[in-house]
Amino acid sequence: MIGIIGAMDKEVDDLKALMTGLEGAAEPSVEEHARMQFWKGCLSGHEIVLVRSGIGKVNAATAAEILAAVYNVRAIINTGIAGSLDAAIDIGDMVISTDAMEHDMDVAGLGYDKGIVPDQETSVYKADDELRKIAKESCEAVNPDINVFEGRVVSGDQFVSDKVAKDIIVSSVGGMCTEMEGAAIAHVAWLNNIPYLVIRSISDKADDSADMDYPTFQKIAIEHEVKLMVEMMRRIK
Ligand code: ADE
Repeated sequence: MIGIIGAMDKEVDDLKALMTGLEGAAEPSVEEHARMQFWKGCLSGHEIVLVRSGIGKVNAATAAEILAAVYNVRAIINTGIAGSLDAAIDIGDMVISTDAMEHDMDVAGLGYDKGIVPDQETSVYKADDELRKIAKESCEAVNPDINVFEGRVVSGDQFVSDKVAKDIIVSSVGGMCTEMEGAAIAHVAWLNNIPYLVIRSISDKADDSADMDYPTFQKIAIEHEVKLMVEMMRRIK
């Protein structure tokens, strides 16, 4: 079974509507843990458990740990929208993670670089190569009109909507796009030794235009995500 996490209702509702139940049932079944609903069923014939985590790293980490500990998932995919950190990556484009970092992890006062979790083997969580390949091929097949990029996804408990904040993130941890959950999910996946992938559709430029762009492009971004997830589940063995 594969775990899929989206932060917002808008990011999971369309996927949920496309799910069928397990073992021939028409509807997915639902279970509640930590105030979150976990929908079990099939997407494109593949067994999944889908959860809307809520926004931010704590919610995302909680959802990921439940997928690992309760559902014993063999992989976790995080889908959603993000702000672009790179001028070449436009609204509507897709970013597939090569790795993920928490941009708001800041122990600089003790001499650590931004993004580094002290006393931990790594703070750069590498995405699964096989999932990356399937995601890229699936996206190119079903969303031929957009560009697909592969690179670092960075996350923090911050909606990035000004150029100063954006520049600080880029100069400290880099990254192709920023959002609020992916690296927390990657971190939990690493702790549990589970393959993971973050797939983000760009809804804004993470600068002074972000609050204006966001509502307009959120819908288009989610449509691209849903098409990609459906195709990805069809291709996954
Ligand atoms: N999700 C979508 N756009 C974002 C942004 N600019 N900052 C953080 N999370 C986002």
